[in-house]
Amino acid sequence: MDAFESLRGKLSDGLAVAGIIGLGYVGLPLAHALHQGGLRVLGFDVDPSKIDDLAAGRNYLKHLGDEMTTTLSRSDRFEATTDFGRLGEADFIAVCVPTPLGKQQNPDLSYVIRSAEDIGRTLRAGQLISLESTTYPRTTRDEFLSAILSAAGDRARGLEVGRDFFVAFSPEREDPGRKSHTTRTIPKLVGGLDDKSTELAVMAYSRAVTDVVRVESAEVAESAKLLENIFRAVNIALVNEMKLILEPMGIDIWDVVAAASTKPFGFMPFYPGPGLGGHCIPIDPFYLSWKAREIGLTTRFIELAGEVNHRMPEYVVSRVTRALNDDAKPVRGSKVLICGLAYKPDVDDTRETPAAEIIEQLAHLGADVSYHDPHVPQFPKMRNYRFDMASVELSADRLSQTDCVVIVTDHKAIDWAQLGREARLIVDTRNAMSKVADVRARVVKA
Ligand SMILES: NC(=O)c1ccc[n+]([C@@H]2O[C@H](COP(=O)([O-])OP(=O)(O)OC[C@H]3O[C@@H](n4cnc5c(N)ncnc54)[C@H](O)[C@@H]3O)[C@@H](O)[C@H]2O)c1
Repeated sequence: MDAFESLRGKLSDGLAVAGIIGLGYVGLPLAHALHQGGLRVLGFDVDPSKIDDLAAGRNYLKHLGDEMTTTLSRSDRFEATTDFGRLGEADFIAVCVPTPLGKQQNPDLSYVIRSAEDIGRTLRAGQLISLESTTYPRTTRDEFLSAILSAAGDRARGLEVGRDFFVAFSPEREDPGRKSHTTRTIPKLVGGLDDKSTELAVMAYSRAVTDVVRVESAEVAESAKLLENIFRAVNIALVNEMKLILEPMGIDIWDVVAAASTKPFGFMPFYPGPGLGGHCIPIDPFYLSWKAREIGLTTRFIELAGEVNHRMPEYVVSRVTRALNDDAKPVRGSKVLICGLAYKPDVDDTRETPAAEIIEQLAHLGADVSYHDPHVPQFPKMRNYRFDMASVELSADRLSQTDCVVIVTDHKAIDWAQLGREARLIVDTRNAMSKVADVRARVVKA
């Protein structure tokens, strides 16, 4: 039997072994979903603490809930390891490693390439490999496949992609913290380097996901993921820009978005905020900009959106400065409390959070800055920021001594009514105080 038929049989009988490389926000839920779909799953990560946590059933991604790690750790169909030599055991490998930007805002594919090399070293006939990490078009075909083949060396002799082994791209659409969808219920795009790769990848993902959407090629899948994220970045920039224009006219952007949202077609609400955060929206669009530059083109929408969104922390700080000035206080020496460090509600994810830039700018102006975040007890290590800070409690005493509270993240776990009662001045970037009935504090939207 040829490699294609043999893998098809294993996938349809549930006998295929899945290998997930990178057990983070994307990889862990995927491992769990494939496990629920009946497959044996091997998890791979370079971080030994994650492997230990999984073996012991300790949950290291709180927003996912404990059930996921408990189920996996108790199962004899799941194992996690740092031994990449075992990748040869997997029939279907999904790569879920980071794709950050480098120092010059260039794509950093080093994690993806390292995974490709790990796969190459144990490559064998009958394997299906899917890249999930967000990246620019043609990465799977040009960079990923080449790295697999060059690491495979002699092993690759006689092995042909689309005949003996199979390669696809399937972007992840996780939205950490969103309760309305799970890995299983979010439709998943799948595009292979050839028809057979696509067909097998559709079968593999159908074990984990209800609605698998077959697209024409890996390049369509790669580009669709970028379009989704660029769409968000551009629309968020649009409302942020409108906020800047409407504010001096005394018009509330939140009222305007709510009003426009009553249109039953042709409009989709996006909300202003303190700046972009997370692993995706601030980063992914620039993967396309870089690729466009390589072929002599420019991505003006992306650059403009980046510029507008990037200015938001500075705008928030200017609102804090003006609000304190109205109370006859300079920023220097004022006590400013940042409410919410995570980049979005109800998660502990602080990657690229705008709160860090706001803290940095306020500290630079001489403010005495502290923060409160029920999900982030300690200011984490970040690439560009280092603060030795721990989350402070929101007590009546502290709030009465604070000159200004800046709402950066509207976590459900924060007692907004207490803030409205006990704070003096609130700069609100999330419209969080609009939901509180009896607000005594002076609220300035930013
Ligand atoms: N977080 C999201 O919401 C989200 C959504 C859609 C797409 N994505 C994309 O998915 C990819 C992964 O993102 P994430 O948020 O899961 O990242 P993450 O940082 O949460 O997880 C990545 C994991 O990979 C591990 N890792 C790093 N190098 C490795 C290697 N060489 N071999 C094995 N493991 C390695 C890390 O230790 C970590 O556990 C990125 O390309 C990201 O853009 C993320």
